[in-house]
Amino acid sequence: MIALDGKSLSVLIEKEIKQEVEKLNAEFMYPTLAVILVGNDAPSASYVKMKSQACERVGINSLVFAMPENVTEKFLLQKIEDLNQDSKVHGILVQLPLPKHINTQKILEAISPLKDVDGFHPINMGKLMLDLEGFVPATPFGVMQLLKAYHLDVRGKNCTIVGASNIVGKPLASLLLNAGATVSLCHILTQDVGFFTRHADFVFVGVGKIGLLQADMIKEGAVIVDIGINRTDEGKIVGDVEFASVSQKSSYITPVPGGVGPMTIAALLQNTIKSAKNFAKGLK
Ligand code: GUN
Repeated sequence: MIALDGKSLSVLIEKEIKQEVEKLNAEFMYPTLAVILVGNDAPSASYVKMKSQACERVGINSLVFAMPENVTEKFLLQKIEDLNQDSKVHGILVQLPLPKHINTQKILEAISPLKDVDGFHPINMGKLMLDLEGFVPATPFGVMQLLKAYHLDVRGKNCTIVGASNIVGKPLASLLLNAGATVSLCHILTQDVGFFTRHADFVFVGVGKIGLLQADMIKEGAVIVDIGINRTDEGKIVGDVEFASVSQKSSYITPVPGGVGPMTIAALLQNTIKSAKNFAKGLK
């Protein structure tokens, strides 16, 4: 078994991004990411902190706008509109989940598709489905780069994704399909997830359930990508894959932590630089 080391790859990517930022700075361009955080969700606050620390490491300006749980939808929409209009801001990200009284889809659709570095706007989602240039959501984008770095080609292979979220499963399905894979997308109503995972050359799991993927659910030599992030009762971070047994049977596997997580952050930085460059070129 070989570990898919997202941590090391993310360090290399950050090094490249830092050089790109320096080039942009020399032309008086200062890539800037605006992050909106609503409420007191502890994991969200921790993700936002990791994102802004990563920005700091590579020289991207990060502006974090923290808002109370009871913020109105109207106020949020106005903030997004201000950021859409602000020529110093190149990327806008609203950390999810949002409180129940806010219509998440309405918020995501208010972000200019040109600054939508999370790739969640329907225009960017549609472009992804059509294999057109746009912003690709960070987690699936990071996963694809991790596979590429290890020369793992999905063309003609059976890929099973467990978890059909808008953030991970659905965009990952499009990326894999565009790369020539045969894709099975399992979800909450799938009757026999094991049937699909056992027939897969590549298994991607992003559900948020400890121990979801067990060794008897994969075929010998499969590539396993664990997108889950869970905290055990003892406070340890683990994925959705039962690592000890599954890693014995797989050819490649992502560790948690140190696999997909750091790649998600790296991909967000890449999207932000891409947006800043697009603005610099005057394409927008
Ligand atoms: N919540 C969980 N994952 C993500 C993500 O990739 N982006 C945002 N904005 N919120 C999230």
